[in-house]
Amino acid sequence: MLYLKDGKDVHGNKIELLILNDKIDKISEGFSEEEIKNIEKNEKLEIIDLKGKTVMPGVIDVHTHMREPGITAKEDFATGSRACAKAGVTTFYDMPNTIPTTTTLEALKDKKKLASEKSIVNYGFHFGGSRNNNIDEIKKVLEAKEANTVKIFMNVTTGEMLIEDEDILKNVFKNSKLVLVHAENEMIDKAVEYNKNYGNGLYVCHIPSKEELKKVLEAKKNSELNTEKHPVYAEVTPHHLFLNEEIRESTDRNKMLLRMKPELRTKKDNEFLWEALNNGEVDTIGTDHAPHLISEKLEKITFGMPGVETSLALMLNAYNEGKVKLEMIQKLMSENPARIMKISKRGKLEEGYYADVIAVDLDKEWIVGVDDTIESKCGWTPYENWKLKGKNVLTIVNGKVVYQNNKFNDNLENGKEVEFYE
Ligand code: NCD
Ligand code: ZN
Ligand code: ZN
Ligand code: ZN
Repeated sequence: MLYLKDGKDVHGNKIELLILNDKIDKISEGFSEEEIKNIEKNEKLEIIDLKGKTVMPGVIDVHTHMREPGITAKEDFATGSRACAKAGVTTFYDMPNTIPTTTTLEALKDKKKLASEKSIVNYGFHFGGSRNNNIDEIKKVLEAKEANTVKIFMNVTTGEMLIEDEDILKNVFKNSKLVLVHAENEMIDKAVEYNKNYGNGLYVCHIPSKEELKKVLEAKKNSELNTEKHPVYAEVTPHHLFLNEEIRESTDRNKMLLRMKPELRTKKDNEFLWEALNNGEVDTIGTDHAPHLISEKLEKITFGMPGVETSLALMLNAYNEGKVKLEMIQKLMSENPARIMKISKRGKLEEGYYADVIAVDLDKEWIVGVDDTIESKCGWTPYENWKLKGKNVLTIVNGKVVYQNNKFNDNLENGKEVEFYE
């Protein structure tokens, strides 16, 4: 039994947890000495004294590109999952634009095997819609419950997965449950329309701007476009919250490094995204962790940036600057991702749930890339030298301590594939 002693929850209330095997056994505002002694009579109790640090459910990042198989010079499930664990991300979802693309049941199973052998945090997979029409594979995968989500690309970006054929797009919506889209500008309107007419749920990835977020928010508020049968969800990334064109254009290096799809926009767009986020109109923060080597980035414009290692810390720093509440961070980064992807028993601190638990030091001041080592294989971060206040200090995955006080545990177990409900 593991006893997390003297923590605080996101409301500032005292919280203590007892973890048995891979689950949260009991949660309390404080166990009495007697209760603890009674437990120690029957079993060995390992105690971690949190000394008032803030306890949260581990972050669930439903938008990452771990590059395995086929692009493992940039990242793989081992390095990517270490980057996650260090930063407080206890579950990631991987995107299908690998080589080969994850657009057949067989490719999905191969990918699952690789992750099960290498990932030290939990993982899930979005199946991919193919430009070559893989409706039969989508049906097989959903029927076999090997995945419950399908990702499609409706604009040009990294990878070979752009779908332009309208019939294929319609059929993907018809034959899927939740469809995640890379859709920019007018493609957002198209996706909303497909979802209404044929779909069973739409999740708009990495919304970068006021104009595009407005489209999605209008759809969310429209009782015909956003229904129980075909809901609409909005994801924003840390980079579209914290970075903008001005920062990108400020140095020659940034001009090359801070490139991704959708591209960074203006400060005004940052502000609109923050406002919507704080109004509760945004559903999730997904990092779009899309590592490329720095040599590739500097040589020619290459779309995508790493993100899992800094997402939570950036948000904690924003909390310290008065820009967002801790409750909202927990909602956007853990609770909502679990609810939207229908993940079983993760995303909340609740008795009976998997013990994916983190502790953060809200007062810790540190410098990105100076006071930590970068775990992502790509070896760089767009936030290098940023001074942040707030840092993950403890990561527990399925009841096992994976990372504590800047160090990984010696005997790491592998993470589990998420289970999902109907
Ligand atoms: C992503 C990548 O590199 O896989 N790139 C990006 O610019 N965001 C693909 C994507 O999410 O569009
Ligand atoms: Zn509370
Ligand atoms: Zn994308
Ligand atoms: Zn992406």
